[in-house]
Amino acid sequence: MSSTASVPSSSTSASAACSTVHPLLHASTMAPTATLVALVAHARGVPSAARAVFAAQCEALAAHDSIIVVRTCHRVELYVALGGFRDGELPELPAGGLRLEDAAAASHLINVACGLQSAVLGEDQVLHQVRETLALRHESRPLDPVLDRLFQVALNAGRRAHGWFAGSRRSLGDVALDEIERAAGTLVDQPILIVGAGSMSRLTAQAAARRGARVTITNRTAQRAMDLAGNLGGTAVVGTSDGTLGPFAGAVVAVSASWSVHPSDAARLVERGTTVVDLSSPPALSVDLQTELGNRFISIDDLAWGPQVELPVQGRLERLVSESGGEYCRWLRARHFPPAIQAMTEAAEARRLSELAWLAHRIPNLSDHDRAMIEQMSHRLVAGILHAPKSALRLDESGTLSRAAWELFKL
Ligand SMILES: NC(=O)c1ccc[n+]([C@@H]2O[C@H](COP(=O)([O-])OP(=O)(O)OC[C@H]3O[C@@H](n4cnc5c(N)ncnc54)[C@H](OP(=O)(O)O)[C@@H]3O)[C@@H](O)[C@H]2O)c1
Repeated sequence: MSSTASVPSSSTSASAACSTVHPLLHASTMAPTATLVALVAHARGVPSAARAVFAAQCEALAAHDSIIVVRTCHRVELYVALGGFRDGELPELPAGGLRLEDAAAASHLINVACGLQSAVLGEDQVLHQVRETLALRHESRPLDPVLDRLFQVALNAGRRAHGWFAGSRRSLGDVALDEIERAAGTLVDQPILIVGAGSMSRLTAQAAARRGARVTITNRTAQRAMDLAGNLGGTAVVGTSDGTLGPFAGAVVAVSASWSVHPSDAARLVERGTTVVDLSSPPALSVDLQTELGNRFISIDDLAWGPQVELPVQGRLERLVSESGGEYCRWLRARHFPPAIQAMTEAAEARRLSELAWLAHRIPNLSDHDRAMIEQMSHRLVAGILHAPKSALRLDESGTLSRAAWELFKL
């Protein structure tokens, strides 16, 4: 069942900071309506195939200014500014997905950008992916400011957080190698196959080389395999699988397509007890090969949780998420102050003009000089009366004064 939820753990404080995210919407006299919604399908609750279906539904809406989709190997997240979009038009959340609103949605993205929702806590590929998502969106069409601002705030927080993780090179590639090590023992001098030569394969190959493994790279484009192998002192195999691969203690596959394995290579992986970790999403290995490998096949979804350890900088991170969430919420609230101030000023001006018209009617023989003096006095009077409430509105953090202004001045 999908559900509406707040984000647990480190995002709680940010949610608290944003609890008054939208002063007008949370007024007791009005039904609360969300400004921002995130539909989150994560591998921790939604299997790869269902995420792919949800992703296709999200992409079908992607031409809308009020929508942006974040996709990584473990997640498909649809962020929606409801001001420009009707709730009923949103795709159905797959079973196991989460619907987050306002503060919970904002703090979720900030947590994601900080690497706090990742299988490898603090990893920085997700920051890169969020940054790319926004950059590609800017290239293609405008983005609703409610979303644009949220992404900017999340990216700023992510950049600061990752500065505190500097030095850690752990990625999902390390998690994959941990799994192989668990089955095969130390990787020192062990033959390891990496399928693919993209960014994920590179990180994995580098991590394997750091562990002292003998790395073989195979990739559709042979030159990329050769370049990567050359940098690591490894071996490149031309073609993704030609029947001569192996044997290997472990294999890590990270390609954006199916991996078509030669039957002899597949048989060798199965017979030699090779642990195969498929980091591709959707999986690159055929269902048949997955079944033949049995519990020696590990999918990207199997790695979704990772070790949920307490980070040394946990307290700092929680403060960062909270402060960033607060910053975003203050900005959201501020969007509503100008209309309140403007409406109050316009109402006072209309009253001033009507009083002047009444006076001109009652005392038609006023000299031009007296008329100008009275007009000036009326300006000063109105400006003087409104000065304090307008200043207070600009500083009002909770939004209660904005609501009061609407009610007291009958705006
Ligand atoms: N980047 C991450 O943080 C991350 C994390 C976890 C999992 N993953 C998953 O890992 C996979 C690769 O991601 P990536 O970020 O490394 O992507 P990438 O940098 O774009 O690399 C894509 C890889 O897939 C290969 N490929 C693409 N289309 C192919 C086709 N039709 N036939 C054979 N090979 C093909 C490419 O080969 P060529 O060199 O010949 O183009 C390249 O090796 C994806 O499934 C992704 O979801 C990525």
